[in-house]
Amino acid sequence: MKKKLVILISGSGSNLQSFIDQCASGDLDAEIVCVISNKANAYGLERAQAAGIPTVTLSHNDFASREAYDSALAKQIEPYQPDLIVLAGFMRILTPAFVQQYLGRLINIHPSLLPKYPGLNTHQRAIDAGEKEAGATVHFVTEELDGGPIIAQASVPILEGDTAQTLAKRILVEEHKVFPLAVNWFLEGKLRFIEGKAIFNGEPLPPSGHAYP
Ligand code: GRF
Repeated sequence: MKKKLVILISGSGSNLQSFIDQCASGDLDAEIVCVISNKANAYGLERAQAAGIPTVTLSHNDFASREAYDSALAKQIEPYQPDLIVLAGFMRILTPAFVQQYLGRLINIHPSLLPKYPGLNTHQRAIDAGEKEAGATVHFVTEELDGGPIIAQASVPILEGDTAQTLAKRILVEEHKVFPLAVNWFLEGKLRFIEGKAIFNGEPLPPSGHAYP
């Protein structure tokens, strides 16, 4: 039996595509059982449909509160009994109740070298601060926004003349490699979330996780 992934998206879904491709090539021994978007026009939904993956659109505009949305989200997810829920550009803050329900089985990628630049506009903020490098961080999700234990980080240089767009593009290339890699570790049982820590082969990872590559 293949391990099951539910992937949550809000937009382009280029990270989703890297999971679709790696599942197809066998690099990732998993099945994407459902893709859920909070936006009806997310291009990632088309990518999922093209790959024959069931999709659900659950618009946050149809719910009166964050709690109501997240409980509907959990209802969509539950029948699939996923081994891991992958947040691949899912642009919503999850409620503590949702996070607790799936604690240790929720993984996210954030386009900065956390703990620097949590939240939005990370690329521009890194450029404006005169940083020499930026990158992406894969981490377990906890109740603290972009604050869960770090699994892996990939860095790229910030080049003269970079805009938020050029930098985002350079970082995405790395995201598409490091995110499936981390998911693979989890599915193979090498990586676990124990007592608030990311544990790799029985040992706690350093605060900045694995440096990738
Ligand atoms: C990525 O940069 C990811 O790190 C962030 O949102 C973006 C999603 O891109 N959380 P895509 O939809 O996977 O192309």
